Amino acid sequence: MDVSGCTALVTGSNRGIGRAFVEALQKAGARRIYCAARKTSSVEEMVASDPDRLVPIALDITDDAQIAAAVEQAGDVNLLVNNAGIARGGSLTKAESLEGARAEMDTNYFGTLAMARAFAPVLGANDGGAIVNVLSISGLVNFPMIGSYSASKAAAHSMTQGLRADLAGQGTEVVGVYPGPIDTDMAEDVEMPKAPPSAVAEAALAAVGDGTQDVFPDAMAAQISAGLQQNAKATAKRIAGMAPS
Ligand SMILES: NC(=O)c1ccc[n+]([C@@H]2O[C@H](COP(=O)([O-])OP(=O)(O)OC[C@H]3O[C@@H](n4cnc5c(N)ncnc54)[C@H](OP(=O)(O)O)[C@@H]3O)[C@@H](O)[C@H]2O)c1
Repeated sequence: MDVSGCTALVTGSNRGIGRAFVEALQKAGARRIYCAARKTSSVEEMVASDPDRLVPIALDITDDAQIAAAVEQAGDVNLLVNNAGIARGGSLTKAESLEGARAEMDTNYFGTLAMARAFAPVLGANDGGAIVNVLSISGLVNFPMIGSYSASKAAAHSMTQGLRADLAGQGTEVVGVYPGPIDTDMAEDVEMPKAPPSAVAEAALAAVGDGTQDVFPDAMAAQISAGLQQNAKATAKRIAGMAPS
């Protein structure tokens, strides 16, 4: 699929990686970009800077009525970027309750799935198009300090594989993006080298353009992915060793 001239919808477009997707799509020559955000006031300034191409949409991906309204408003979309996500940061057994784990699953898995289900017919009607799911390298191997987030991204990884099979018949390309630490609000407490959000957006859009299905956009993601391919058990053990005491 050619990203230049596409009509995209980006969830969580107001900051972090979502905002970088909007900027990368502008650079790549997208025709129209629906900037979805829970609060449209948070994208007002961005939209005002390119009003012919950027269109605000109020969208909480856990709200079925808002998703249905987005489908009504954005029936011309041929690239859906499922970027919105949360990390509550809990360890599986040391978090005080299941509240964070449930919220992560609601947003990162069920919210993303609800968006894919709602927009699948739109993409089908627009020549197939593409879905980009922003997942995490921690969805391929559990990071114990964010164990419940990892589990929600593992569920979304499995969903991404399933969507690829489900939507192949209508010609929809499905790209999974597996970043390591990226320099956004979500990772502000992470003390390790972080790649810029633009690296994620640019690598993901390049993959849409050339048919790559799995994207490892930064050095840490690429290193862990290689480790998993060479020796999955040893890599899982090494990362399990990072568990908080
Ligand atoms: N940063 C990293 O190190 C990293 C690494 C791997 C993967 N990721 C993934 O990358 C994606 C973007 O994260 P980020 O780093 O850019 O985080 P961020 O700066 O915290 O931004 C998260 C975005 O998601 C939106 N969002 C959260 N819940 C939502 C909901 N229910 N409905 C709609 N929008 C919602 C937020 O909106 P509000 O402004 O309204 O809160 C915000 O726009 C996430 O899926 C995250 O899991 C991030």
